[in-house]
Amino acid sequence: MTSPQYVFQDSDRDREKVRLSAIQDEFDPDSRHRLSQIGITAGWFALEVGAGMGSMMSWMATQVGNKGKVVAVDIDTHFIENTNLPNVEIRRLDIAKEKLVISYFDVCHARYVLLHLREWEKAIENIWQSLKPGGWLVIEEPDFSTSTAVGHPASKPVNRVNKAIINMFNSMSIDPYFGRRLPEIFQQLGAEEIKVETYLPFANGGSRIAQIMKMSAQHLTDRYVGTGECLLADVEQYIAAADDPLAWAYYYTTVATIGRKPLIEP
Ligand SMILES: C[S@@+](CC[C@H](N)C(=O)[O-])C[C@H]1O[C@@H](n2cnc3c(N)ncnc32)[C@H](O)[C@@H]1O
Repeated sequence: MTSPQYVFQDSDRDREKVRLSAIQDEFDPDSRHRLSQIGITAGWFALEVGAGMGSMMSWMATQVGNKGKVVAVDIDTHFIENTNLPNVEIRRLDIAKEKLVISYFDVCHARYVLLHLREWEKAIENIWQSLKPGGWLVIEEPDFSTSTAVGHPASKPVNRVNKAIINMFNSMSIDPYFGRRLPEIFQQLGAEEIKVETYLPFANGGSRIAQIMKMSAQHLTDRYVGTGECLLADVEQYIAAADDPLAWAYYYTTVATIGRKPLIEP
């Protein structure tokens, strides 16, 4: 089962493996730090939504130990289905459509998943109701409004591609600035102890973030050009700039929001 709106659903497996591995390497340290801050520990029940290659799932499994449990869900479990950890349960499901168990988890974590869902409200409601009273919600999503190339011959074509990325998501009824909505969404859920952290890489070609965006561009070239905001030659220059140490750019911002379900429901 796949979600028709997930833009990487038709990726070549080997290439997608490289892209997801780079995402993990770049963003896991901050995600692990956030989960450590809220106190993930032995005996906890944890949910990993949109587990991808599963590095956060495996890390959480080491934290919660044999008395705890990790449930990892993804619409495509290809990369994690051979996981052989005794305290990990893998479930193939669409988080916007299939209901999770109620009041079960001590922590639910999702990174770069809800952005892709037109039905994100159903997904977040599903995740929220699966938390125990007092449980923690940690969601990390992008805000593409900050993507801007600066002071380099390729900055104009790169910025046309940045515009195409925004346009592609808009045309799919997906909010390219979704990350910035998280704090308000947490407030509307009734979350307590809300904390917001942002990460905006300012990096050059050759950096890991440049490589991640290059791999996205390679897969999504036709979609970018199809928006009418850029030409194929612009995408080619965007891809070349990702390897050029002189090409500096602000990339998308990751907005991480942490909040806690009240112990007594209002
Ligand atoms: C960009 S990847 C991020 C993977 C991982 N969270 C990370 O940050 O390394 C998005 C993941 O969400 C999954 N996904 C997309 N739509 C989903 C849905 N409706 N329900 C569950 N998982 C979904 C994809 O299959 C993919 O593994």
